[in-house]
Amino acid sequence: EDRNGDSLTLRPEGTAGCVRAAEEHGLLFNQTRRLWYTGPMFRHERPQKGRYRQFHQIGVECFGMAGPDIDAELLILTARLWNAFGLSDHARLEINSIGTSESRKVYRQALVAYLEQYQDKLDDDSKRRLTTNPLRILDSKDPATREILQGAPSLDDYLDDESRQHFEQLKAMLDAAGIAYTVNPALVRGLDYYGKTVFEWITDSLGAQGTICAGGRYDGLVEQLGGKPTVAVGFAMGLERLILLLETLELVPGHVNNQADIYVTAMGDQAVAPAMALAETLRNELPGRIVVSHCGGGSFKSQMKKADRSGARFAVILGENEIAQGTAGLKPLRDDQPQQEIAQADLAGVLAGLL
Ligand code: HAM
Repeated sequence: EDRNGDSLTLRPEGTAGCVRAAEEHGLLFNQTRRLWYTGPMFRHERPQKGRYRQFHQIGVECFGMAGPDIDAELLILTARLWNAFGLSDHARLEINSIGTSESRKVYRQALVAYLEQYQDKLDDDSKRRLTTNPLRILDSKDPATREILQGAPSLDDYLDDESRQHFEQLKAMLDAAGIAYTVNPALVRGLDYYGKTVFEWITDSLGAQGTICAGGRYDGLVEQLGGKPTVAVGFAMGLERLILLLETLELVPGHVNNQADIYVTAMGDQAVAPAMALAETLRNELPGRIVVSHCGGGSFKSQMKKADRSGARFAVILGENEIAQGTAGLKPLRDDQPQQEIAQADLAGVLAGLL
């Protein structure tokens, strides 16, 4: 309930809703599906850098494919995206298999039996999780708990044959595709619908909230939500974290930063219209570059000051003389190079070479 007493229901993630929508619209009937979505999600977590109460995800969910090939395809797809963003060296992949729910049940009992012997020494979160979600204890960062976990039974020893084989095949496919990964036996994921494959893409450049993309297989969820048994696998990436990472690594292109490349000035009233036209020509011929037209008049000095503040690398100067000669002044703003006079027809070509 909010302050006005209105009851709000806010989605924390997209997977369950995607399954519900796919079921409701008959998308899963006897066919395979690859779906995607994007939108705001809401979680009542303690906010910190990279963790917000409202954030955005892009998610992908695939239905009706039981083998590890589709698991591999999702990871190959995300690796391609990191590559396109220049992030390949900044995102590492961790994978694990948490087996079927039956094998996990047996493991859970063994883990709880082991940890109960050390109950007093566990951190508070882990104590609570002993009854709610004991597998999450494997993920504890508390040093005392970590030490106790050293002697704990390993999930790997409890894996059923089918999950083991699925995982081995997935690893072989990733190897063949040249996707580097580490197997993290403590990776269990917080959501309770997963089985078999789970994975996270993690960056070390964002501090504690370094998971930029995560997912796994959830073969039981469709049936649990009332559909026919339908296997599924998917992931979601956090857009704020992705953007934060691109900013941290200074990989954000200028047009996302809203930073100008070229600042076109107009000296005198007669120059305003031709300068506007010249700026348009530059925009047409230099797609992807931000060209700012100076507006509001003012002296040469004040226009050049604004050009400097815009962050642009070059100022284009158009005055009476230039207009008469069909040229434009080109002044580098970030180094000590002198101003050049260039034929207007050549200006875009010269700038393309310099930028
Ligand atoms: P998740 O791990 O809860 O998985 O979230 C996926 C991603 O969303 C995280 O790796 C992170 O980048 C971002 N994220 C999560 N919580 C926050 C937050 N509070 N602030 C900022 N970013 C956040 C899921 O949501 C599953 N539905 C993924 C999935 C799809 N599994 C199968 N299909």
